[in-house]
Amino acid sequence: MNKKVALTGIKPTGIPHIGNYLGAIAPALKLSETCEARYFIADYHALNSCKDPAEIRLMTVEIAAAWLASGLNPETMLFYRQSDVPETFELLTILLAFTPKGLMNRAHAYKAMLASNAEAGKDPDDGVNMGLYTYPVLMAADILLFDTDFVPVGNDQFQHVEMAQDIAQSFNFVYGTEGFRIPQPLAHADSRTLVGLDGRKMSKSYSNTIPMFAPEKDLRKLIMKIVTNSQEIEEPKDPDTCSIFSLYKNFGTPTQIAALRERYQAGGMGWGHAKQELFEVMNAHLSPLRENYNDLMQNQQVITKALKEGGEKARELAAQKITVLRNIIGIN
Ligand code: ADP
Ligand code: TRP
Repeated sequence: MNKKVALTGIKPTGIPHIGNYLGAIAPALKLSETCEARYFIADYHALNSCKDPAEIRLMTVEIAAAWLASGLNPETMLFYRQSDVPETFELLTILLAFTPKGLMNRAHAYKAMLASNAEAGKDPDDGVNMGLYTYPVLMAADILLFDTDFVPVGNDQFQHVEMAQDIAQSFNFVYGTEGFRIPQPLAHADSRTLVGLDGRKMSKSYSNTIPMFAPEKDLRKLIMKIVTNSQEIEEPKDPDTCSIFSLYKNFGTPTQIAALRERYQAGGMGWGHAKQELFEVMNAHLSPLRENYNDLMQNQQVITKALKEGGEKARELAAQKITVLRNIIGIN
């Protein structure tokens, strides 16, 4: 039986952090054990918010290195840059004709902009470009172009995948065909949101991240900065409301996690000790990845080659799909 297709993309808009790793990269790589994987760098999506060419270039390399260092095998998985598959943008044009404007009005990201403008007493559409407004259609093109069955994403992206379903169904209905496969969003098995240094969601927007490849010394320093309460060493502590423990749970073995839980509850352990324990498990997990990353950054032609070859393979598949679609719509 044919394997199901899993596809996901990450925008090159910031240094990859351990929230991206645990929330997106690691689960997608796990999924590639059972699905045909198509993972890409959503560089044109970044253009809506980033107009700095050096930044886009640099972050593209960083995200690509993060995937490869984490174990993506470009021989067995399709790995490419969105911009290397111009068929995406032809499909975007096709899909725009099947996207009700009202659907875009309901998109969370756009609605959030309207709300923040209203609060600031600005024009409702202040700072909204058409790229942001039609963002879900470009994302639908990414997904539908590759006959995707599953889209592993964080909960925040579910609405976008549902919009891709709506647009695809509308196309299929109009032509009475199965031109598009209907994609399903897939919550990561563990869709817990990873907390950052300040206890809020780890996100580059909050500058509270731990970069995936922070050198050992920096990793230790960042961990020592995690905000804690002012409980004394001898007091028993609640692991379930503690950012240190919440991070630890993602890196420790079940035995290690149970042991640290006991130490919290028994009292006699200060925050410094807990941070040291966290540093040790995180560093043990991340060290081999950091080594891979450093090798890749020393040999960037490995990254360039993987993306170039992946882009060519992706384009071949995409061109076949576009031919089928052009036949359906009568533009051929
Ligand atoms: P950021 O919030 O830093 O801007 P992105 O929105 O670019 O991160 O997220 C890229 C991917 O990483 C998405 O699939 C998202 O669900 C995942 N991700 C980001 N931050 C976290 C987090 N704190 N916990 C779990 N997953 C996360
Ligand atoms: N919108 C996604 C994000 O912000 C990135 C993305 C672009 C994507 N195209 C995609 C994710 C297609 C999955 C499938 O995280």
